[in-house]
Amino acid sequence: MLSNEQMNAIKQSAALLKAHGTKLVTVFYQNMIKQHPELLKQFNKTNLMNGSQPEALAATLYQAALHIDRLEELLPAVKQIAHKHVSVQVKKEQYPIVGYHLIEAMKEVFDLADEDETLLAWKAAYEIIANIFISIEAEMMNDNVKQRGGWSDAKPFIIKKKKHESPSFISFYLVPEDESELPLYQAGQYITVQADMPGEAYVCSRQYSLSDQYHPSYYRITVKRDGHVSTYLHDEMNEGDVLQVSMPQGMFCLHEDTTEPAYFISAGSGVTPMIGLAKTAASKENQSFTMIHADRLEDVTAFEKELESALSSTTQGRIILCNEQFDPMMKIDLVEKAASRIDRSFLQSVIGAGKGQFYLCGSPAFTQEMISTLKELGISDQNIQFESFGGQSMKEIDVV
Ligand SMILES: Cc1cc2nc3c(=O)[nH]c(=O)nc-3n(C[C@H](O)[C@H](O)[C@H](O)COP(=O)(O)OP(=O)(O)OC[C@H]3O[C@@H](n4cnc5c(N)ncnc54)[C@H](O)[C@@H]3O)c2cc1C
Ligand code: HEM
Repeated sequence: MLSNEQMNAIKQSAALLKAHGTKLVTVFYQNMIKQHPELLKQFNKTNLMNGSQPEALAATLYQAALHIDRLEELLPAVKQIAHKHVSVQVKKEQYPIVGYHLIEAMKEVFDLADEDETLLAWKAAYEIIANIFISIEAEMMNDNVKQRGGWSDAKPFIIKKKKHESPSFISFYLVPEDESELPLYQAGQYITVQADMPGEAYVCSRQYSLSDQYHPSYYRITVKRDGHVSTYLHDEMNEGDVLQVSMPQGMFCLHEDTTEPAYFISAGSGVTPMIGLAKTAASKENQSFTMIHADRLEDVTAFEKELESALSSTTQGRIILCNEQFDPMMKIDLVEKAASRIDRSFLQSVIGAGKGQFYLCGSPAFTQEMISTLKELGISDQNIQFESFGGQSMKEIDVV
């Protein structure tokens, strides 16, 4: 337990973390990866280089400093991070490595001596915070292996089918090499795929949402051509090839305990979890839902047929595909088309009084824009869930 003096020292360091947190964690990652390059098996190098991972960690440390005397308030955000950690197979033995480099970076960036009381307080606090993560993650890993067909870490899956959905999207149907039945998962969850790419010293890990409802024999992921790993998957991975895959994780799932109207709002590759979520909502009694999705003209209708058949099984669903180049006079189909961006006036016209649960998915810029717009329209934080495809942090989760 921390003493009152230690808690005060940590609270006082919050201002320092707010001002220099990104510099701190940038130094931390640089030094840690230099000494432990094998961590690149787990980290997404792009997120490290573009700063989104350092920012996520900096925001988390800042929130931890503010909440050091009531860490339990951070539990929802901690659980979300723990899902990512389990997916990328973080081990309890790795926490001391992170702790050591974090404290060393604090010394360097904040110019603190070994015996400085703020530094000693952070050492003690890190241990407490790390133990919270370790125990939550141990429980989640244990739950994973206990499930029928469950596993720990990653296991080999064969690409059974590769389907071009549109110019930018390819779906991969993945079946376990050992032919075991797949454990249940919830629509909206994601898996981590490890690509063993030529020229790379380590496998490259990326998350992909499951783009369909549960099926006992395969996982379907849908990959947008966007960079290093996705291009490799598109161009080099074919039917019969093998990928290492983690168990599904993630909290971006339909609330079981409410039948309030659900709104699924996505852009680009953010459509992938929405397909399973919309199908789940369509199969749930008394669940009304509206799915709104925007993309480039050549990609936006990729899943129209599949979504149409989900709609035909319910009288309470509405699906609107958005692209400014749609003809505004087009006849109205079961899946509607709107010649519009998803902006404030469009959202206002669709959601009206706006009571319900809002699920957002897309790039960090898109999710941020939608969160701000929905808040302007009077939707409260508690009714907004999101999955951001470029990494997310407590800054976005807004736990203050
Ligand atoms: C929970 C979760 C679920 C996801 N689900 C899906 C999904 O269902 N489908 C899907 O397609 N993706 C999904 N993603 C995204 C996916 O994990 C990858 O991030 C995505 O495939 C891009 O990886 P990549 O290696 O191809 O691109 P990267 O090479 O990592 O590049 C990513 C983007 O950054 C840009 N970039 C790269 N380097 C730089 C640089 N130095 N400066 C500026 N820009 C740069 C690239 O042009 C590209 O647009 C998900 C992500 C998360 C976190
Ligand atoms: C108390 C200590 C830690 C904190 C506060 C922390 C915080 C975070 C946060 C905020 C994220 C982003 C979550 C998201 O994108 O949804 C993250 C992701 C991640 N963390 Fe941690 N973490 C800690 C310990 C560790 C350890 C010990 C490892 C082991 C190497 C680790 C490896 C990772 C990896 C690989 C990711 C995914 C990054 C990516 O997008 O590639 N973390 N962590």
